[in-house]
Amino acid sequence: METLLKIANIETLYYDRIYALHGLSLEVKAGEIFAVLGPNGAGKTTLLKTIAGLLKDQPKKGAIHFMGKRIHRLAPERVARLGIVYVPEDRGLFRELSVKENLDLGCWGRSDSGITDDVEFIYQLFPILKNRAYQQAETLSGGEQQMLAMARAMLRRPKLLMLDEPSLGLAPRVGREVYEALSKISQAGTTILLVEQNAKMALRIANFGYIMESGRIVLEGTAQELQENQDVQELYLGVGGDTVSPKGWRLYKKRRTW
Ligand SMILES: Nc1ncnc2c1ncn2[C@@H]1O[C@H](COP(=O)(O)OP(=O)(O)O)[C@@H](O)[C@H]1O
Ligand SMILES: [Mg+2]
Repeated sequence: METLLKIANIETLYYDRIYALHGLSLEVKAGEIFAVLGPNGAGKTTLLKTIAGLLKDQPKKGAIHFMGKRIHRLAPERVARLGIVYVPEDRGLFRELSVKENLDLGCWGRSDSGITDDVEFIYQLFPILKNRAYQQAETLSGGEQQMLAMARAMLRRPKLLMLDEPSLGLAPRVGREVYEALSKISQAGTTILLVEQNAKMALRIANFGYIMESGRIVLEGTAQELQENQDVQELYLGVGGDTVSPKGWRLYKKRRTW
């Protein structure tokens, strides 16, 4: 598959001196689901914000290309116009507007005839949004809010859909529903880049994964390779929970191979 997004050796700093991304490189290929996994503070959110152009004058070094076009240090609206749509961790909804109004805003600026099909697609994916059409977004459950954010993002017809911790704060069952929807979105042809602490959930649907720590990629592989990797198993897929356990973390610091 062709490379859609290519990130080469980027460095992103906060306040010009705190390194959040430290020479990070990765590639996203068209038509697949890519997951970036890592503990809290690894730089996952910073990575997505850097791609989306939300951090002014960042990345300081390195290059980001999307469909062969240079996008690093472009304004966020220009990045968005190229087809990169970002669902932030807080979901970025208009909390006081209704579900339908949020979706209408997702169609803003579009006049093509595909809107009807797209609206049909998202209601098929998330029938609950139809029932909730006139309810204020802030009154939805966490899972419903995540679904609304994903639905609104899909109305932008993304070439690359980026999501920040889509399962965070959701009950496991609801998290799985969100992930099933992502799988369907991928099957319908949208490329996905997501970041997650919940490696178990993400690797179930991802084709390829990157493990990120302290602003760097420390390991990469197909979802299957990562699931079979002993360090990944111990630290990220360990028994007793979906997230990194402090005990697992200490053990791993001692004997990790990367
Ligand atoms: N606005 C900010 N100002 C200064 N430092 C930040 C800011 N946002 C994040 N950081 C720092 O950058 C590092 C990476 O953070 P973040 O990208 O949020 O990681 P993750 O999403 O993996 O939890 C952390 O050390 C964090 O404290
Ligand atoms: Mg984050």
